[in-house]
Amino acid sequence: MTDLKGLKAVVTGGASGIGLATARLLAERGADAAVLDLRPEPLPEPLCGHRADVADDASVRAAVEAAAEDLGGIDVLINNAGIGAVGTVEDNDDDEWRRLWEVNVLGIVRVSRAALPHLRRAAAVHPGGAAIVNTCSIAATAGLPQRAAYSASKGAVLSLTLAMAADHVAEGIRVNCVTPGTVDTPWVGRLLDRAADPEAERAALNARQPTGRLVTAGEVAAAIAYLASPAAGAVTGTALAVDGGMHGL
Ligand code: NAI
Repeated sequence: MTDLKGLKAVVTGGASGIGLATARLLAERGADAAVLDLRPEPLPEPLCGHRADVADDASVRAAVEAAAEDLGGIDVLINNAGIGAVGTVEDNDDDEWRRLWEVNVLGIVRVSRAALPHLRRAAAVHPGGAAIVNTCSIAATAGLPQRAAYSASKGAVLSLTLAMAADHVAEGIRVNCVTPGTVDTPWVGRLLDRAADPEAERAALNARQPTGRLVTAGEVAAAIAYLASPAAGAVTGTALAVDGGMHGL
């Protein structure tokens, strides 16, 4: 168990799925956690929520400052908010590609930019104790069918993670990402609801994982909590796969 006592953490997209499981786990392990989300309510105790659209810079800056004030600083940033799109390059129009870029890639850029002054202050007090963890996806490297725009956006998240790790290592800020396989969250629930045969679709998703089952949100949260913790003090610029064996490259 990684002890996170006293850490101040911000989790984007923390009102559902992987983000909610992560915010809860960080709090269980002793961190003070704030959630930034389009729809931050209702949240279980002791999480506090701030409304933010990561595609909107003014809303991000206001929410990050409000969270920093609530928590008394920011040591850890979990950039988890993300959206999906199904389709090939012929299926998704330019607006859909731009929307994925705005949320999945520029969302991380905006929130990180707003949080970095706080992370720098945290790193000055606890060298190596400040951390960013991005939620990437196995789609970044696996070559999944029907996920062209989504995969490209997550490929950018992987590259961005490596570049940010290099930029901020000397400041004592670690930057890593997790690359989950298919995770049983409301996101997958929505995909199944739209399928002609949801049971058959779930069986196909299970079969795609070498472990024969979907990853749980708690399993991804545990990996994120590790990367955010002092136990990972020597870990930066890495992608931790939590994908049931479905490795990409
Ligand atoms: P989810 O749909 O359950 O939760 C996503 C959360 O992000 C929601 O609370 C939503 O309100 C929030 N959000 C979406 N757009 C936002 C915006 N513009 N500003 C602020 N908040 C926003 O999804 P899930 O499955 O928990 O996904 C979380 C992350 O994990 C995403 O980045 C996704 O790409 C990634 N991921 C998910 C996998 C899966 O199979 N569920 C697999 C690999 C990665």
